[in-house]
Amino acid sequence: MELSNRLYIDLLKLTLTDYHRITYPVFEPVKTGKKKSIRTKIILRYLKKRNLVICKRRLQDKELREIGKDYPLHADTMIGLRRLNNIEDCFKDILENNIEGDLIETGVWRGGATIFMKALLKANNCKNRNVWVADSFEGLPPPNEDKYKADKGDTHYLNDSLAISIDTVKENFKKYNLLDDKVKFLKGWFKDTLPKASIKKLALIRLDGDMYESTMDGLVNLYKKLSVGGFIIIDDYGAVEGCRKAVQDFRNEHGITEEIKEIDWTAVFWQKKKEI
Ligand SMILES: C[S@@+](CC[C@H](N)C(=O)[O-])C[C@H]1O[C@@H](n2cnc3c(N)ncnc32)[C@H](O)[C@@H]1O
Repeated sequence: MELSNRLYIDLLKLTLTDYHRITYPVFEPVKTGKKKSIRTKIILRYLKKRNLVICKRRLQDKELREIGKDYPLHADTMIGLRRLNNIEDCFKDILENNIEGDLIETGVWRGGATIFMKALLKANNCKNRNVWVADSFEGLPPPNEDKYKADKGDTHYLNDSLAISIDTVKENFKKYNLLDDKVKFLKGWFKDTLPKASIKKLALIRLDGDMYESTMDGLVNLYKKLSVGGFIIIDDYGAVEGCRKAVQDFRNEHGITEEIKEIDWTAVFWQKKKEI
């Protein structure tokens, strides 16, 4: 890679993760409960009129951001530097070995990891591959407990901060000057969008949907399209038991024995060596 491209990719990793501002504290708006005293209500009204909010000052932690184990207030991706490095390593291997196919992430939040995929394509002058950006853009589905026991009691769907609109994600691509017609959006629940998506071949799959159902929908609909030599990355393997179970169930069912490699405390990946 040319030096200017190397510098571009490295700088992008720092900006997408917000790591370049790690030395400064962030100011996190304090959530007030539903039940408020009259005094609190008066104070909040007073602040609102003046466009003020109460914030908690939080110091950022370098190590946690590196491994994506914090909730980054301003970053365009939750995943830390190590997982971005992993995307780049897989991508390099794909290019060197001419592995056919597009790149996809299922579960994109603010879009950062897919923006990074698009930047890698651009920096390497790859004009024939799409980046697929799959998400409800409304957060996670409530658990379907009858069908997926492993998701019983899952509360991700209650988390509003995981619901980022498609317009915001498109704006995020635009602000890096990386939105074009080779970035394809799949809006809706994975169970509805992935089976009918017009994806032909994939070289890189990144599953980041947290739950058993979301992970299984990705595996069932996409793994058969992954080229031999391509990579599959599972973001929540260490962090979410349901996700890990979905991967184990799928691997057992299809006799997948490729070695699972750790990226950090939660994410893993493997390289597809044979068709299933
Ligand atoms: C943890 S966030 C993804 C983080 C992101 N990869 C990043 O780089 O920061 C999980 C995302 O998955 C999406 N999601 C989870 N399950 C889904 C499903 N079944 N269908 C559609 N979207 C889903 C949520 O809307 C959310 O944006």
